[in-house]
Amino acid sequence: MKAKVSIIGAGNVGAATAQMIAYAGFADVVLFDIADGVPQGKALDIAEACPLWNSSASVTGTNMYADTAHSDVIVITAGFPRKPGMSRDDLLHANAEVIKNVTFETSKLSPESIIIVVTNPMDVMAQTAWKISGFSAKKVIGMGGILDSARLRTFISIELGVSPEDIEAIVLGGHGDQMVPLPRFTTVKGIPITELLDRNKIDGIMRRTRHGGAEIVSLLKTGSAYYAPAAASVQMVKSIILDEKRTLPCSTYLNGEYGISDLFVGVPVVLGHGGVQRIIELELSDEERKQLNKSALAVQTLVKKAAL
Ligand code: NAI
Ligand code: 2OP
Repeated sequence: MKAKVSIIGAGNVGAATAQMIAYAGFADVVLFDIADGVPQGKALDIAEACPLWNSSASVTGTNMYADTAHSDVIVITAGFPRKPGMSRDDLLHANAEVIKNVTFETSKLSPESIIIVVTNPMDVMAQTAWKISGFSAKKVIGMGGILDSARLRTFISIELGVSPEDIEAIVLGGHGDQMVPLPRFTTVKGIPITELLDRNKIDGIMRRTRHGGAEIVSLLKTGSAYYAPAAASVQMVKSIILDEKRTLPCSTYLNGEYGISDLFVGVPVVLGHGGVQRIIELELSDEERKQLNKSALAVQTLVKKAAL
């Protein structure tokens, strides 16, 4: 029997995530939304494409939480996206209510599941989902760092004219404007980019990475990015379901690691069966640590605002 992944929110990110998992074929997908007909229509459309992708995954759409029962992974994308001029943080109160509700409903039906939170402001929403679910911290994980690192890899690949496949990058911290891309840990086939690009170019790429989400919002005008966010979410789902033990930057509950306590912040983790199997602590320079603390403080401020 295939693993079961329920995706909550059949909007842009949710539907694209469902599509990518269904075509890859490693899990059956349930797509849930409150909008009548939307998850059903999108799921049927995706299911009808599966034969063309040689996938035997089943894809169903629903407005009933009962259909998500016994999921192995729940991906939460429900809520409101950014519009031009809005930061991720502007979504705080509206999305906190959505996350509380969907986490309460899904976690009781799938007590063994791993929850991946995508909805923004993501780190705070992950902390909300963790609190409401009552799950152990390793079973609730936020998606942000993989997307931010993928953007960084893309920009370096464009600048250097090399394949992004050969680029490794890590972005730490909250998934917000204070995120911390790490040039020292960004390499092309093991060669640090500090040896391949001058300071100005690197600074420009790091800045573009920090504003990568806003760049797409300003182009789309009606919403935010979804293809790369979906691909990043799928990488997490796959690593968990297939126990791939990938080392990926994800928002996880820190309890003293990196000197940060009682907060979801993005750091490298090993993802596999059971969720976060290990948190990897990098040796940071004073400047990198300062930036990470600043980013964590921004998340902490929002957690307080959300009254968690
Ligand atoms: P969207 O507007 O296309 O889809 C959101 C869906 O959520 C809609 O279909 C809506 O009907 C549904 N929804 C609203 N309330 C619900 C509820 N109570 N239960 C179930 N479904 C509900 O938005 P999009 O573009 O898919 O983005 C979703 C969220 O993901 C946004 O908060 C966005 O900011 C965030 N996001 C986060 C990223 C990250 O890196 N963490 C990247 C991209 C988006
Ligand atoms: C992004 O980074 C909006 O968080 C979303 O594209």
